[in-house]
Amino acid sequence: MYTNDMLESMKKVEAKREENTFLEPRRMTAEEKENLLATYHPDYKQNEFAVLTIGPNKGDKVPTELAELLQANSRIDPDKIDLDKVDYDVDVLVIGGGGAGSSAAIEAHNSGANVMIVTKLRIGDANTMMAEGGIQAADKPNDSPAIHYLDAFGGGHFAAKPELLYKLVNEAPDAIKWLSELGVEFDKMPDGTMVTTHGGGTSRKRMHAAKDYSGAEIMRTLRDEVLNRGIPVVDFTAAIELILDDKGNAAGAVLLNMETKEILIARAKTVVIATGGAGRLHYQGFPTSNHYGATADGLVLGYRAGAKLLYADTLQYHPTGAAYPEQIFGALVTEKVRSLGAKLINCDGEAFMHPLETRDVSAASIIRECTARGKGVKTPDGVGVWLDTPMIERKNGEGTIEKRIPAMMRMFGKYGIDIRKEPILIYPTLHYQNGGLDIGPDCMTTCVPNLFVAGEAVGGIHGRNRLMGNSLLDIIVFGRDAGKSASTTAKGVTLGKLTLDHVTEFTAQRKAAGIESDTVSPKLLPNYTKQQSI
Ligand code: FUM
Repeated sequence: MYTNDMLESMKKVEAKREENTFLEPRRMTAEEKENLLATYHPDYKQNEFAVLTIGPNKGDKVPTELAELLQANSRIDPDKIDLDKVDYDVDVLVIGGGGAGSSAAIEAHNSGANVMIVTKLRIGDANTMMAEGGIQAADKPNDSPAIHYLDAFGGGHFAAKPELLYKLVNEAPDAIKWLSELGVEFDKMPDGTMVTTHGGGTSRKRMHAAKDYSGAEIMRTLRDEVLNRGIPVVDFTAAIELILDDKGNAAGAVLLNMETKEILIARAKTVVIATGGAGRLHYQGFPTSNHYGATADGLVLGYRAGAKLLYADTLQYHPTGAAYPEQIFGALVTEKVRSLGAKLINCDGEAFMHPLETRDVSAASIIRECTARGKGVKTPDGVGVWLDTPMIERKNGEGTIEKRIPAMMRMFGKYGIDIRKEPILIYPTLHYQNGGLDIGPDCMTTCVPNLFVAGEAVGGIHGRNRLMGNSLLDIIVFGRDAGKSASTTAKGVTLGKLTLDHVTEFTAQRKAAGIESDTVSPKLLPNYTKQQSI
């Protein structure tokens, strides 16, 4: 139930709706954005970060929660693991069953590899499934990969690795074609051309979508493809340590059956990490839009085996997480809502910013409105600002919401909120890990040979901030290419003796650095209950 204050504020929103719908709030200047970010964006809160004292990124700062996991104890005692007892023997081992892992497995299979997916939950239990707004690709006559590059490079604060971003934008049109041919039902006009919209920071309409469940549609298709091809999927089984061979190359993983707790050994000529993000670490206490398994496992596995991280100090807080009702606190309210015309409105009914600034800027602006400016709307559990959804149909006509964002309509409708008639309350939610493992254009890590990475576990594709729709894109582009590269590389690999010496060595480094915490990692599942069973 709305409080009286919330209802009073809602009346102010309604009173100014006509004026606000057609108002064009000005864009911030570069200087205004920089100042805003430095003061209000969570990435700039120095006391929320810790400096790593061991491992490949020793001396670098990362969020404290991540530092604890990166420098934690292994879940295994290497001396007690029998590496001669091999349970699975494959060319390519893909760790992770989301969009990137599935794309990698499909392409590895295409090129003749004996490939297997291992996933701690089930195939499709992944952030891909939860992605809503769409996937970018410059495939319209008024657009080009070069323009896409400039948008993404600027939006990422000019920090993206140029060769990775180049690959992302240039392979985007083919990614859409590939998905369409596999069976993804993108929204189309009656003449068959794709419907495309803007996202924050895009200078062209290049967001392709399947209503507001684009990720679910893509994941459905990829999962069908994996299963139809008969690619083995070992589910409810987590990778808990990488195995190297005596030449220092990735050579498999130690697995943990999540149900029986049995330890299994997977030997592989190449390994692809596609474990996704870290929202369930709830950095700085933020809620998250991420799925249950998003606990930065791939970063931990790679780091302990010697792989370097890039930009692990930068996270994306999606500007519009649901702030009310509490049952959906932190759930994603797609950027497409703003792209269709809804504006961000404060407690006094004022449109306080342009609705499609880049995500880091939008999130910081909302935080400022609710803190320094005191213009947030108090909810029973926190604070938020309005996202005035009824504006969408004023601008685009009746029926637009049901047609273009039905999942949003249903999500709020379950709690008696009709987003066609009432605005909704939002606040930033932890959405994406901008940083991750450092790779080259062939998707191989820069420090561990034969270890490939794809999807959200990669760092550097987007720089220090990602634009909407470039993540669904990167899981496809880098997933496919990681699968191809891993398969090609596997053809030339003769494995040496398997070893876990790097784990022993890491434990020694912990000791030498005086790290005493008894935390174990990878975390695998969030600990929402006091008793952690895994
Ligand atoms: O707002 C959204 O629909 C999220 C998209 C993305 O993170 O790319």
